This record gives sequence, structure tokens and C-alpha cells, in this order.
Amino acid sequence: MAEIIFALDFENLSEAESWVKKLKGEINFFKIGLQLFIRYGPEAVRMVQKHGAEVFLDLKIHDIPSICAKAVASAAETGCFSTTIHIAATSEALNSACAARTSGRPRIWGVTVLSSAKQGNSLDAASQAFLCGLNGVVVSGADLKKVKDSFPQLECVVPGIRPASYALKDDQKRILTPSEAVSCGADYLVIGRPIRNAENPLETVKEIKKDAGL
Ligand code: C5P
Repeated sequence: MAEIIFALDFENLSEAESWVKKLKGEINFFKIGLQLFIRYGPEAVRMVQKHGAEVFLDLKIHDIPSICAKAVASAAETGCFSTTIHIAATSEALNSACAARTSGRPRIWGVTVLSSAKQGNSLDAASQAFLCGLNGVVVSGADLKKVKDSFPQLECVVPGIRPASYALKDDQKRILTPSEAVSCGADYLVIGRPIRNAENPLETVKEIKKDAGL
């Protein structure tokens, strides 16, 4: 069953916490990205965990192999559920990162192609992720089906999700509705603004889950 990850793209921790409180009955996974983590560090992770929810710590690690491993080891200390590494960081870096997991945590998801990038081959990236032992990949809606069909063992984490009722695309270029994403094989749907900008966020989450059969 796919899970929704709500993106805590907020400037301050109390605002982020108010969203965790609002959504925690319906959503069990929250994404902490660089905006919040650079300001608050592990305190931000603890804030989510305190409410009994899991953290996707989206660090987008990209460095030499030994530093990637240390970054993953530090992420593991926070108890986060998952983190991200750029697949472009080389296979040595991906292998070192994977070796730094502690009892399977954090799950490591590889960033295939940034949605802001004009080009890049997500299948090649997914292949490298698979060979190096990553748990999954972050993949755009446009590439999801071919990646999942080729590498069913990889968890597919998909941003750019827009419910049919949400007209704005914001800066997302390759969008899917929640049900399209699930039927194409998404395991985790990363959703921010369609929930944040909704008049009734909790109702919107319920609608998304119903629509996608979650
Ligand atoms: O667009 P939305 O607010 O739903 O974005 C949720 C997450 O998707 C963001 O936290 C970001 O990591 C990711 N994103 C992306 N490409 C963009 C914009 C956001 O992958 N162009």
C-alpha cells in the first residue's frame, strides 16, 4: 500500500509542528527538507517523532564516498525513516552510503533526475541505484512507470502529485494525480502544496486517499 509523505516546507518549526498535529491521524510520514533541517537540525526530526510519525529526511547528499557514509551514519542517529542521496555522486559513494545504514535505517532513496533539470536518464540512474543496493529512487511522474516496470524491487518515491481538483501546477512540470501515481507503481507520494493550500487540508487528504484507494 502506498503512503503519503507530507512535505514540511516551512520556515519555522512551530508552523511545521502545527501541520504535523493537524494531519497526523491521516498521514504517518513527513518530509523534512533542507529549509527546515539547516535551521533546526535533529530537533526538527524529534518534533515529528514526538507525534509518533516517521521522518523522510531529504538531505540530497552528494559528496565523496567517506563523507556520504558519515552523513548517512549521522542521519541514522536521528532515527529518521529515510534519506536521499544523488545517484550522480558515483557508485563508490552510493556503496559507502549503503554500508553506513544501521539495522536498515535510514532507507536510502536515490535522486534520479531533478525535476528542474532539462535532461538526464532516470532508467540509467535507477539501474545504478539497484546495483548499489539503494532502497529506492525519487522519480518524476513521467518516468515512474518505466522505472517501476524495470526495477520492481526499488521503492518509487514520487513528487509532483496533483489531485484533479487542484488546478495550480506550481513549479511542478511532470505531474500525476494520486490515483495515476499509485497505478503506475508509486510507493510513496510526496505531496506539499495541494494539501497546504487547500481550504480544508484534512478533507483534501481524505479525498486523495479515497481517490487513490489508500
Ligand atoms: O509541489 P509540492 O509542494 O507538492 O512539492 C512537494 C515536494 O516535491 C517538495 O518538498 C520538493 O522536494 C519536491 N519538488 C520537486 N520538484 C519541484 C518542486 C518540488 O520535486 N519542482
